[in-house]
Amino acid sequence: MKGEELLNRHLDMVDEEIKKVFESRTHPAQLYDMMKYHLGWLDEDLKKVEQYRGKRFRPTLCLLVYNAISGVYDKALPAAAAIELIHNFSLIHDDIEDMDEERRHKATVWKLWGISQAINVGDGMHVMANLAALRMADQGVTSEKVVEVLRILNETIITLCEGQYLDMSFEDRLDITLDMYLDMIRRKTAALVEASTWIGATLATEDASKVNNFRGFGRNIGLAFQIIDDIIGIWEKAEQTGKPKASDVRNRKKTLPILFALEKAKESDRKTLKELYSRPRLTDEDVEKVLSILESSGAYEFSKKMAEDYERTALQELAETGIENEAIADIKALAEFLIRRKY
Ligand code: IPE
Ligand code: IPE
Ligand code: MG
Ligand code: MG
Repeated sequence: MKGEELLNRHLDMVDEEIKKVFESRTHPAQLYDMMKYHLGWLDEDLKKVEQYRGKRFRPTLCLLVYNAISGVYDKALPAAAAIELIHNFSLIHDDIEDMDEERRHKATVWKLWGISQAINVGDGMHVMANLAALRMADQGVTSEKVVEVLRILNETIITLCEGQYLDMSFEDRLDITLDMYLDMIRRKTAALVEASTWIGATLATEDASKVNNFRGFGRNIGLAFQIIDDIIGIWEKAEQTGKPKASDVRNRKKTLPILFALEKAKESDRKTLKELYSRPRLTDEDVEKVLSILESSGAYEFSKKMAEDYERTALQELAETGIENEAIADIKALAEFLIRRKY
């Protein structure tokens, strides 16, 4: 698939840049090795390994947007690396919050080394992101732009924390509306995708309307991406996703398919769903029941359509930049991949 080839083409470029931040940090080795484990460079025994490292689509978007405007990559690399580190620090903490034992087809950091150390690993990686971003100065980015990008990154991180707060706080509630859900995913997921395209454009141009269009593209494709993540979390097999099947249901997450079924499933199913989602813990049998209610409610079709609507809006924003070149074609192919993916 074109989208996968594209991601593979940028993966090593991003990882080489991330590795530069690790070069000067060596002690205690285990702390950094746990970060490297999460990034997919080391295995459980902390030995070098070639394995799946995640999609790296946020830095790829940042690089492609910068390239679409400027024709090159160089100045965007430090920010792209920072964005991927922010994403990964948030995943390390997210897996603790969600108590998920697997990600990317392997055990999560907290599962292997305990919650306390996983908090340290995530915190450390958060700061590595800022150190990665500061390398912009070495690439000849002006001080004004460095400050501007750091501001965007840090505002995005706090927005992401707001989203994670809301996501967790919704677990114990049944009164979550579609607007509340959209606000939550905008913060927890779309904000970082928006930052990726926003920063790529900010580094390349002073044209505020172009920057806004690229931002709009990132925000909308980010919303679509999270809705697809909700769908995959319910309907894809663990072998595809690399995560435990239906952990969102087990955690009583208010994902889009669930919200739809709570509102629109047939009366008896709505009642059962509410009752099941009021229990402190869902058994395997409860989860199966929820899945079969979702199946017959039309939640899949509704959610898929909403993701496609956001994708369409994203592509409109991209068209409004007025730029047409190979990098823009790649951005479109990447958007298509993010919506059709199964992992
Ligand atoms: C997972 O993001 C977390 C969400 C925001 C839904 P990705 O699906 O991009 O995770 P990796 O990096 O490819 O594993
Ligand atoms: C994704 O959260 C958002 C962040 C990690 C900030 P989720 O909990 O929905 O993502 P997955 O499904 O575990 O990757
Ligand atoms: Mg999670
Ligand atoms: Mg979560």
